[in-house]
Amino acid sequence: MSELADHRATEARESFSVLERQKSVAETHGIPVAVLLELTHRCPLQCPYCSNPIELDRGSSELTTDEWKKVLTELAEIGVLQVHFSGGEPTARKDLVELVRHANDAGLYTNLITSAVLLPRDRLAALADAGLCHVQISFQGNEPIVADRVAGLKDSHRRKIEVAKWTRELDLPLTVNAVMHRQNLHQLADIIQMAVDLDADRLEVANVQYYGWALKNRAALMPTLQQIEETSRLVEEARERLKGTLTIDYVVPDYYALRPKKCMGGWGRQFFNISPAGKVLPCHAAESITGLEFESVRSNHSIAWIWQNSDAFNRYRGTAWMKEPCRSCEFREIDLGGCRCQAFALTGDAGNTDPACTLSPLHEAVFKQAELEAASEENRFLYRNFAGGTPEGGDHGA
Ligand code: SF4
Ligand code: FES
Repeated sequence: MSELADHRATEARESFSVLERQKSVAETHGIPVAVLLELTHRCPLQCPYCSNPIELDRGSSELTTDEWKKVLTELAEIGVLQVHFSGGEPTARKDLVELVRHANDAGLYTNLITSAVLLPRDRLAALADAGLCHVQISFQGNEPIVADRVAGLKDSHRRKIEVAKWTRELDLPLTVNAVMHRQNLHQLADIIQMAVDLDADRLEVANVQYYGWALKNRAALMPTLQQIEETSRLVEEARERLKGTLTIDYVVPDYYALRPKKCMGGWGRQFFNISPAGKVLPCHAAESITGLEFESVRSNHSIAWIWQNSDAFNRYRGTAWMKEPCRSCEFREIDLGGCRCQAFALTGDAGNTDPACTLSPLHEAVFKQAELEAASEENRFLYRNFAGGTPEGGDHGA
């Protein structure tokens, strides 16, 4: 074993003994059950609400196959049970089958989160053979004309449907992830039926989160209050009708909620992800918060140490960092002050109360802005890509 590997192994063991020392007075944080691995930021789609950071990692900075394999082994050793291969578009990595096989051999449950547009049937079959356990496919709508426009890619919807069918033919469980906003919410009833027809186990009705790239397109995406009320009604009705057939995940979007959601289950509590270049992040959008330094799996620290000790994870853990009104609020242990990324995006300080909360002094202004934007006539997208964004009507491929 090299000196560095030896150091990391010792550190991981020590971090773990800290994590597991039940009677320790130090605050300890058990390693999460599941971890999101962003294999790459490369992606053929150009969704206007992309949650990847504004500054994308270039292909040349991505972890190598061997580095990802080391990460997978380390995750299994420290007790992680599930890994979600994500991106960008994870199938853009040529070594995906090899990585899935390695994860499977290490005893990890594997989920592939994909746009499905780069996935021929034989590659999906190879992934299944390598031990892939689950597939999640994102959909931009229910019909090609809407879905392809949102994705900024011709023929994408047809390809997704095809891959979803192959997924079930190969006996892999399927989740349909539908990202919803003002310009596709009218299709929700059909999307629910599409998930049933595709024999999906689960449908995630995911409202756009407005930080990062989505903030640039907020006026074109913000739903109306009327749409949100109709969505909640539709979801309730479908949940009842499809009990035992399809599980539907749905939360009211932030700008129309009274209290914020406990984002990520709390910062540094239940989740971390690893960026294409190897940064260990408390959430997928954490890099949008300027002023935080994130440790890398390429550093001489183990992942367990980074989770337990690094400044980025400890900065907003628990409740001690809170200012008013969160600090003395009876809900502080319930929602942990909401979303740090949204607080930063809307107030410039990630330590402020998430303005989605009605108790935030900024809530009313934010809600009014949402109402104004929802009523606006702005429907054109600014597409997401490595070129720095392409306005709709330009050469975006859809
Ligand atoms: Fe949650 Fe803070 Fe709002 Fe209280 S003030 S409900 S802790 S976000
Ligand atoms: Fe980062 Fe909510 S998305 S904390």
